[in-house]
Amino acid sequence: MHLDVMTVPGQLSPEAEAGAVVVIDIFRATTTIVTALANGARFVLPAADVEQAIRLYEPYDDSEAILGGEREGVKIQGFHLGNSPAEYSPERVSDRVVVFTTTNGTKALIACRNAEKVFLGCFLNLSRLAEQLRSEQTVTVVCAGANGGMSLEDMVCAGGIVAKLAPKAGDLSDSAMAARLLFRSVRTRLAEFLYSSGHARELARLGFKSDIEQALRLDSVPVLPHFSENRVRLGAEPS
Ligand code: MLT
Repeated sequence: MHLDVMTVPGQLSPEAEAGAVVVIDIFRATTTIVTALANGARFVLPAADVEQAIRLYEPYDDSEAILGGEREGVKIQGFHLGNSPAEYSPERVSDRVVVFTTTNGTKALIACRNAEKVFLGCFLNLSRLAEQLRSEQTVTVVCAGANGGMSLEDMVCAGGIVAKLAPKAGDLSDSAMAARLLFRSVRTRLAEFLYSSGHARELARLGFKSDIEQALRLDSVPVLPHFSENRVRLGAEPS
């Protein structure tokens, strides 16, 4: 298995596109999407910007769909929900389509749309994800990062995925090795370490401390969302 970690989204190589790609945005986009789908959302339509989200929502009425997402961490004006996983409860999302746009996470996802298989990862579904990836030849973990820069929390989670796959991985890129080293060095004090990240400090400042706590619940939501035909959903996985 060839295993690579991209610290920020970028152009995927043809080899990476032909393999499995995992997009992660721990704080908070992929954590929120995983939660929404586990709570019964029909599927999630990721949008690159607010205008696209509004267009995607247009064909639906309020009983069929939810418009969610953030800019600068807070709910977008006129949207139903923000980007806190707890908002995407079964009462709000069950049997509904979620149209969703976030600053980095949904953009990263859309940037990977041409890959053969695109999965969504976070701490909540880490082991489930690793189980799925074990048989792949090429795995590329794409960290959403923050406005073009690296995010500590995404790198640590990427390292957790590498650590789970590594016994069978014959070929790790330098960034995959670095991510694994980072994960191993903080795994026994994951929460303490990640609370000190820039993004966690910003979320705490905005009053979203409980989102951080929720995002760090390892293997608490063992589902496997995948992105194809512009939709993120659970169910039949790409073969
Ligand atoms: C993003 O996509 O940049 C994030 O999910 C930001 C956040 O709401 O914390």
